[in-house]
Amino acid sequence: MIIKYLGHSCLLIESSDNSVIIDPFLSSNPQNKIKVADIHVSAVLVTHGHMDHVGDALEIATRSKCPIIVIDELGKHFMSKDKTVKIHPMSIGGSYQFDWGKVKMTQALHGIGVEMNEVLSYSMPVGFIINIEDKLIYHPGDTGLFGDMEMFGNMYDFDFVALPIGGNFTMDISDSIVAAKLLKAKNYIPIHYNTFDIIKQDVEVWKKRMSDAGLNATVMQYEDVFRF
Ligand code: NI
Ligand code: MN
Repeated sequence: MIIKYLGHSCLLIESSDNSVIIDPFLSSNPQNKIKVADIHVSAVLVTHGHMDHVGDALEIATRSKCPIIVIDELGKHFMSKDKTVKIHPMSIGGSYQFDWGKVKMTQALHGIGVEMNEVLSYSMPVGFIINIEDKLIYHPGDTGLFGDMEMFGNMYDFDFVALPIGGNFTMDISDSIVAAKLLKAKNYIPIHYNTFDIIKQDVEVWKKRMSDAGLNATVMQYEDVFRF
């Protein structure tokens, strides 16, 4: 199984039989290098309604004829844009066994705005704990640090965690290191930084502070692949 980093908060997870994409902010990402039309997946997961996460979700799901896995309220916004799109609605704390893997939806501490229609509307932000093949992956979405990460660290044996480190809208470097200590995962990568000036961070500082804390940190460049 591999995880490909597609910039910002976008991960493409490829198992031997399936692939799923999380937060596909591609065509509007100034750093984007790949064609959205080339992506074919079994599911699209979206953590919240901000455009740097919704991105090309609708186009990818429609083309792949696969569901978008989202919190119920955000799913209704997708359906208002395109009635033919398949939505798998979930809510926080719920989990569901798909044929490609198991998804648990978690809380995230972040903004609730949905940036898909002209009318301002709302939907809770979430994270995802994904069990695919024999690996356990945590994508926390956009979030500030929260104490229940300690509970997740005790409940789950994470193989791979993507940590937002950009600050301003999410955890910064210092808070992400606290989060990493609580989550006790085998591997960490940084996400949600340097895409825009307002979330600029020195990722080498993050990497050094992670390794000083005994945490296994990998910085992935655009389209880098993490192999288990
Ligand atoms: Ni956001
Ligand atoms: Mn964001």
